[in-house]
Amino acid sequence: MLVAVASAKGSPGATALAVLLASLWPREVALADVDPAGGDVALRYRSPEGTPLLEDRGLLSLGAAVRRGADVALAPHLQPVAGGLDVLVGVSAPEQVAGLGPVWGSVAAALHPADRDVVADCGRVLPGAALMPVLAGADAVVLVVQADVTALAHLRERLATLAEPLRLGEPGGVPLGVVVRAGERDPRAAADVEALLASGGAGVPVLGVIAEDARGVRALETARPGAGRTSFVRSGRSLLPGVLALAERRTTPAPVLARR
Ligand SMILES: Nc1ncnc2c1ncn2[C@@H]1O[C@H](COP(=O)(O)OP(=O)(O)OP(=O)(O)O)[C@@H](O)[C@H]1O
Ligand SMILES: [Mg+2]
Repeated sequence: MLVAVASAKGSPGATALAVLLASLWPREVALADVDPAGGDVALRYRSPEGTPLLEDRGLLSLGAAVRRGADVALAPHLQPVAGGLDVLVGVSAPEQVAGLGPVWGSVAAALHPADRDVVADCGRVLPGAALMPVLAGADAVVLVVQADVTALAHLRERLATLAEPLRLGEPGGVPLGVVVRAGERDPRAAADVEALLASGGAGVPVLGVIAEDARGVRALETARPGAGRTSFVRSGRSLLPGVLALAERRTTPAPVLARR
């Protein structure tokens, strides 16, 4: 199962949410940093020994293996980080993504290993993005948005451009859900955003709220004791069943109606 986390514009917290979901994931999982603008995971995390992560083992080495026509196994390109997560380190500069151009389809295929699920941080998705095969091949796409009018306008516009490549709302299309970054004590945020999107003709489900909690984000990044008790992590735990259910829609075949 592949879950792609992305944003429409700005930095609403796609990386933070991808890391959180992967940390809470109930099964074997890897976090893949495929943000074409340059990955953040390698900058924010360290190895279990406290050393920097290797830049040359990750998306670039996977892309090179794919280009050589080698096996597209994901495992050799993963690195463990402090806290226990296995990650596919991203590119350090956007220029490096250009070389990946023709192989994104095979990279997307490698993000569906048989032995684990993958949560992919896809960064900001722009129309015609080269990584579209990752989104189109995902079992679910989760878009993060901040609860303000301009961010929602950009989200609406991006949903319109994603409708065709992801076949949104069509049978067999990619299930897509929205997560709203808002205050934990703002119970109406999710419903308000859902209503606003529906009124603009973009009827997509809002999965819930990721709590506005900078200290919680930081605590998780630094694997600080007690990180599991922050409102950030609490809100992630509440979101998780909805994310899993969204992704299972695509992997579970529709029930065959009994013949009469
Ligand atoms: N839920 C949150 N509450 C408070 N701060 C947050 C939250 N999520 C992210 N942040 C902070 O906002 C900033 C951007 O977060 P993050 O890097 O996850 O966003 P992004 O959408 O991945 O951005 P980019 O597209 O630039 O990679 C960071 O400083 C991060 O610590
Ligand atoms: Mg990011």
